Amino acid sequence: MCMPLWYGGDYNPEQWPEEVWAEDVALMRRAGVNLVTVGVFSWSRLEPSEGRYTFGWLDRVLGLLADGGIRVGLAVPTASPPPWFSLAHPDALTVTRDGVRLTHGSRDTYCVSAPAYREASLRITRALGERYRDHPALAMWHVHNEYGTPCHCDHAAAAFRAWLRERYGGLDALNDAWTTAFWSQHYSDWAQITPPRATQYLPNPAQALDFRRFVSDEMLAHFREQRDLLRELTPEVPVTTNYVLAGWASVDHWKWSTEVDLVAIDDYPSGPGMAAAEQTAFAADLARSWAGGRPWLLMEQATGYVLGPRKGPKEPGEIARHSMQHVARGSTGVMFFQWRASRGGAEQWHPGMVPHTGPDSRVFREVSALGEALERIPAPYDGPLVEAEAAILWDEEAWWAAQGPGLPSSEIDYLAAVQQAHRVLWRQGVPTCFAHPSHDLPAYRAVLVPSLYLISDEAARNLAAYVEGGGTLVVSFFSGITDEHTRIRLGGYPGALREILGITVEEFRPLGEPVELPEFGRATLWSEVVHLDGAEAVARYPGGGPAVTCHRLGDGTAWYVSTRLDDPGYAQVLTRAGLAGSGVPGVEVVRRRDLVFAVNHTEDERPVPVQGTDLITGKPVGGRLGPGGYVVVRP
Ligand code: GAL
Repeated sequence: MCMPLWYGGDYNPEQWPEEVWAEDVALMRRAGVNLVTVGVFSWSRLEPSEGRYTFGWLDRVLGLLADGGIRVGLAVPTASPPPWFSLAHPDALTVTRDGVRLTHGSRDTYCVSAPAYREASLRITRALGERYRDHPALAMWHVHNEYGTPCHCDHAAAAFRAWLRERYGGLDALNDAWTTAFWSQHYSDWAQITPPRATQYLPNPAQALDFRRFVSDEMLAHFREQRDLLRELTPEVPVTTNYVLAGWASVDHWKWSTEVDLVAIDDYPSGPGMAAAEQTAFAADLARSWAGGRPWLLMEQATGYVLGPRKGPKEPGEIARHSMQHVARGSTGVMFFQWRASRGGAEQWHPGMVPHTGPDSRVFREVSALGEALERIPAPYDGPLVEAEAAILWDEEAWWAAQGPGLPSSEIDYLAAVQQAHRVLWRQGVPTCFAHPSHDLPAYRAVLVPSLYLISDEAARNLAAYVEGGGTLVVSFFSGITDEHTRIRLGGYPGALREILGITVEEFRPLGEPVELPEFGRATLWSEVVHLDGAEAVARYPGGGPAVTCHRLGDGTAWYVSTRLDDPGYAQVLTRAGLAGSGVPGVEVVRRRDLVFAVNHTEDERPVPVQGTDLITGKPVGGRLGPGGYVVVRP
């Protein structure tokens, strides 16, 4: 099935006087917008007091949009409960780990385990579902916003205990898994267990990890309740929610992705320039991998940079280039936060598709040109999208574990390690996906395992089978160290992977000063005392101990990098492992089924290995791409 790509963004008409709405729709049409997300934060305008609904304004907005031919992702506004709700149910306000009960006045001030919040969420969902189930503008349901706010209150504690009973069955198993013999933490009654609240010194790492797992599952239970209700009312309408990315691993996205009808991500690179292009490719490859061959959607991006100390517009052309990176990787559309930049409120400095200046602006012209371009690209709706040659293991549980207390180095950064692996492959033009450690690993040219601190026995067996079957595995330091309860695997590191890698690590030696490795450049942060048990040393530390090793196992090869290399050094390992790509620096070429997307992220003209007619301009592509340009070709 071939449908047009979605194009649009969050539309918050409740922030504007009604006179603006007609202009909004006219401008949306001018920009080629065909989908807007409405009502994400409008709970207080929809239900100004308990059970009293004021849908009139939303009826008018949806009517205007439908008349303009614009479809709607209608939001269930549970991410921001109204003040009346919080005053009536103070027990449903978030409590931080320090025991501070937050108040309303921002957003996300809820406890997902509070019964009153769960009830109120279902009530507003039912009211919206029943009212708009047959509305011609309704294209999808957008539940909540960026799930991920933990609460440490007594409701959360009770739900955490119920979750733990389900997981462990009895207290003996929990005491064992959490190593409660340490520091006199043995639990003799379930009632003694709390979320990891502020305490005197280091918390229990297994308890902290289980709480992260619980928060993800508890939020998923909330999502499922809304989803099931909406499915009952509108079985044909997909239900989604937008994942938050960046440095915040809020939920277990692999698990969630089997529950949503459409994987949707928000992507805010910290940019600008090449760093933003790399981060965009990373986010889009993650989304595509989570979606596992199903459609997915870039639900939010911005026309400017919003993270970090300085906010500013994207450079000319960047909005389109980032959008094409997502579409190339199979996004079924391009959406922004938000349509019109707010004039007041906490995000009044967050950019919009229509900036404060109005439509007579560079940003709106770029937004409109992008809308026109997207109309010329057919959307992918089924089948594998992009054939990956390499996979990187990605596991939020391992990330949470690697954020535990008292690690041998406080500078261990799982996200940075994974991003480095992806960045180096991206620069070499190697099409890459992500995989969960326990997932099937088909015949990728290589599987990269950056700093995967926690690993299950099942995952370790999976990796062994991949190597024995002929695969190339590249494991980096601080992988395979603990079991799923963050207990260290004894007998030498990296416990679960020793046999695969043909090494035993006797000691970790975090580095203060960098050291130089011949051929592989500068090593920082970390070093290890590695003994060879079948592997050979490919690089050695200045003292003579193995730093990078290689081990033949079955029909495959397992590489180990026992320190943090810089990008050229890591690239060199991949080259030695047979994974060199043939990419043109700064130019990204992605094949999405029968279309090839080429994006030049540099300021110079560059060669592109692409022939054919550009679907956007209708002009032939002559093997070169101008500064900052992009083409979409059906070869
Ligand atoms: C997103 C969020 C939006 C908006 C945006 C601003 O993460 O979903 O609601 O806050 O950030 O940066």
